[in-house]
Parts: sequence; structure tokens; C-alpha cells
Amino acid sequence: MTTIDWGALEAAAKAVRARAHAPYSRYHVGAAVLDEQGRVHAGCNVENASYGLTICAERGAVMKMVSEGGLRVVAVVVVTGGSEAGSPCGACRQVLAEVAADAPVRAIAVDEAGRETERFDSSVDALLPRAFRGALVTGA
Ligand code: THU
Repeated sequence: MTTIDWGALEAAAKAVRARAHAPYSRYHVGAAVLDEQGRVHAGCNVENASYGLTICAERGAVMKMVSEGGLRVVAVVVVTGGSEAGSPCGACRQVLAEVAADAPVRAIAVDEAGRETERFDSSVDALLPRAFRGALVTGA
């Protein structure tokens, strides 16, 4: 079993958040996922002038993990600004359900000075109960 170093995941998510490309929303998000090999993969949101093409931080992190040979997400940390910790959006929950179904999720909000304003702990299962897992799984 991979030990979860929450401090390392939080540091990675905070660091990558500084690279967010969010000129439209100005909402900067950083995410870090721990894979089954103990490696950390970090992603930030990347917005586009054609707004719908925006990729969230969580999906960026998962794409990086899979590209690097990671098979399973063991834990997820998401860091946002503001006074309320941002919860992964519906699209990201579905992507996480594919490779991170039983993973814990920690969401943290920080103010402009980097001080934590709120956090909550949840899990992918709790955020997306009864996730769709494809026709092969559902027996269609
Ligand atoms: N965003 C994320 O990166 N992750 C989420 O789970 C929610 C939203 C980004 C997308 C967009 O760049 C900005 O936050 C505002 O929606």
C-alpha cells in the first residue's frame, strides 16, 4: 500500500497553482495526485479564449499521471483561492472515477498570502456516488 504524504501533495498542488493559465476566470486551481508507485503528478487549470476548451487542474493531473505510466490514483489534493475550498467539477469527478474510485480527496482554499481559509476531506466515491463505469461494467 502506498503511504499518503499529504504534506507533499499539498505542496505540489500549491506550487503548480502558480502556473495556472486563467486569464478569463482569474480562478487559479492546482491539483496533485499520488499514483500507486508513490509518484506525485501535478496539474493546473488551462483556460482558452474559446472558453469551453478549458481543462481543469484535476484532469490535467490525471492526464499527466496516465502519460507517465501511473495506473491508479491513491489520493487527490485540490487547491483554490477564495474563502471556500473548491470542489472538483462534475467532469473531473467522472474522470477521477475511472482511475481513482476509492481515493480520498482533500480540497483546500488559500488567501492571497497563501494562508489556508478552508479545507474539507472527502473521497471520489462520496463526490460521485454510483458513477457510470461503462457498458462492459453495467452489463449492457
Ligand atoms: N476549475 C478547475 O480547475 N477545477 C475544478 O474542479 C473546478 C473549476 C477551473 C476551470 C476554470 O479554469 C476555472 O476553474 C473557473 O471555472
